Amino acid sequence: MSSLQAVVSGGFDAERVRKDFPILAQTINGQPLVYLDNAATTQKPNAVIDAIADYYRNDNANVHRGAHSLSDRATRRFEDARDTLGRFLNSPSSRQILWTRGTTEAINLVAHSWGLSNLKAGDRILVSWLEHHSDIVPWQLIAARVGAEVLPIPVTADAEIDLDALDDLLDERVKLVAVNHVSNALGTINPITEIGKRVHDAGALLLVDGAQAVGHWPVDVQDLGCDFYCLSGHKLFGPTGIGVLWGSEDLLEAMPPFLGGGEMIETVTFAGTTFNSLPFKFEAGTPNIAGAIGLAAAVDYLAALDRVAAAAHEERLLDATVEAAAAVPGLRRIGHPQRSAGIFSFVLEGCHPADVGMLLDEQGIAVRTGHHCAQPLMARFEVPGTVRASFSMYNTFDDVDRLVDGLKRAQALFGPR
Ligand code: ALA
Repeated sequence: MSSLQAVVSGGFDAERVRKDFPILAQTINGQPLVYLDNAATTQKPNAVIDAIADYYRNDNANVHRGAHSLSDRATRRFEDARDTLGRFLNSPSSRQILWTRGTTEAINLVAHSWGLSNLKAGDRILVSWLEHHSDIVPWQLIAARVGAEVLPIPVTADAEIDLDALDDLLDERVKLVAVNHVSNALGTINPITEIGKRVHDAGALLLVDGAQAVGHWPVDVQDLGCDFYCLSGHKLFGPTGIGVLWGSEDLLEAMPPFLGGGEMIETVTFAGTTFNSLPFKFEAGTPNIAGAIGLAAAVDYLAALDRVAAAAHEERLLDATVEAAAAVPGLRRIGHPQRSAGIFSFVLEGCHPADVGMLLDEQGIAVRTGHHCAQPLMARFEVPGTVRASFSMYNTFDDVDRLVDGLKRAQALFGPR
């Protein structure tokens, strides 16, 4: 590939985008940083860093409470941020955008609020083998309280959800199915619309963990046809500690509050309390105002980019990695999903994943190693963990070359002789 093609891949100029992310312009252990841990968290563009600083410099106040100008300004920016996220997800209304701390809290909110008021003994919740612990454990906690069961939907040897097995599991006992849009550990892109049709035909609800999808392409909740969609701001180039639960309005209206406190009430007496309307019913306490503003800045930043071209660029990076990694002796990719979102998860024969991670770090290359909070999936593929390189739009073909060179060195140092 010529250097011009490498820089401007399919009309997407990753080198120009990189310049918006100041953290990337540094050396680690004397080498230019190659950041390939984007599935753990993405880096932040100047637009996000500046929006947060600007909020604290100029507008900081509590929201929905004050009778003063600063509070008005903070409230306006906070609610504008909600509208921005509503447009980003193509939500029919901003009332369906609930701020949470992230995907984990969003799933826990549904599990507690919807689960405790709708599930009973003998009911079933299905989760796929591809799930992160945060889409397994909350359901187990609630199932144990009400006497329901959590059952796994099998995945194929390629690490794709087995749709026939899903059909076999879907009966009148199943009340909710929870799957991720993209597997954090192996990168599989799940066919959410197709899964949604099957789940709804069976009379159940569909919750989607979208944490790993939103950083790669635009998501349209109406098009997907799910009942709940959860995301984390920090995987979408925004700050940590902020996320969104999107839900169908009828369901959210009917669900009881998750946390009690200020802002989520209408009236409080010792005889009883009535609750605020959506979305505030679910937002007890002072929210992460700067986080919401920072996340909206990330979404605005993305809106100015060609995201289709960005996704195509990431796909090319992954293809180039798969091709080049074939020349690394003893490297075995885990899962071969037909559609995969920027994640290359593998083991190197004879090398512990943690040792590979350390050796790559010595060369300035950041990856994640271990079970990726997906222990059932690791057990399914009979590996204790993997090395995971996860790409974002600001990665380049030079990053791929550096990764593959690093893996060849790891194999030469630690691999079987
Ligand atoms: N869920 C994040 C990951 O996959 C932290 O790394």
